[in-house]
Amino acid sequence: DKSQAPTSDKVEALWICYYSNIFNPARIKVRAMQAQLLKRNWKNLPEAVVIEPLIRNAPMRLGAMLETSEFQRVRETDFSLVQPPRGADWSALRDAAASCRGCPLWKNASCTVFGEGPREARVMFVGEQPGDQEDRTGKPFVGPAGQVLDRALAQLGIDRSTAYVTNAVKHFKFEPRGKRRIHKTASPREIAACRPWLEAEMELIKPDLVVAMGATATRALFNAPLKVTEHRGTILQSALNRQTLITVHPSSLLRLPEGVDPEAEFARFVSDLAQVKPFLTAAQKV
Ligand code: URA
Repeated sequence: DKSQAPTSDKVEALWICYYSNIFNPARIKVRAMQAQLLKRNWKNLPEAVVIEPLIRNAPMRLGAMLETSEFQRVRETDFSLVQPPRGADWSALRDAAASCRGCPLWKNASCTVFGEGPREARVMFVGEQPGDQEDRTGKPFVGPAGQVLDRALAQLGIDRSTAYVTNAVKHFKFEPRGKRRIHKTASPREIAACRPWLEAEMELIKPDLVVAMGATATRALFNAPLKVTEHRGTILQSALNRQTLITVHPSSLLRLPEGVDPEAEFARFVSDLAQVKPFLTAAQKV
């Protein structure tokens, strides 16, 4: 019984030291900790003595981590005005974009993923930014999100190879986590830095319809943070003066909140994209 329990334990100090060192101030969730490990039981935990000071110091330690993190640090000098070569053809544009240093994202990405598709395409699909597989292959929408897009287009009988497919941001932004690279949303500043490439692609292709898929593409095309949920399924004139259909990003269908019917959401995406069809058969290009 309790009286037989030892009052001290030789490895307690070692355990407390270990616990303090693996405690990650960037990942604490105090409420979850307390829900899973009721405070009234803390007295039985040897590490309880360090939990409170560790939580108290977490914001300060997190600030210091961000300060010293080379990966996160953004300097003023990391941004410069991008000027795509004027009057260049697609290959020249793509080659120029390959060495773009307009924002800091080039540093950690493997390559610039430029848009692809026929120069005479009438429809241009704009996504957010390349993902892990796009970064490895240098091609847009070849990973899981691309497969969702392909499946939706196939359902509508639209041949993706007739369209031009690109992204608002041309470098993969991620955070390393072990061996994995976790997607991070591009900041408004990074979106703005990359915009001249999107404008140059638009100028070259002159699509009759642009499809903005998700919030980043919508922000880049409208130069404003329009709400995708409010405007999806509608065609508006973008800041780049093109008819632009707003819809969700196909990757959102891969991580739907619990309780949302995936089939119904996919059907909604297909129904948004159905508006592309008349543009593919339109007679006149502007
Ligand atoms: N998501 C995007 O927005 N673009 C890609 O190319 C791939 C995934």
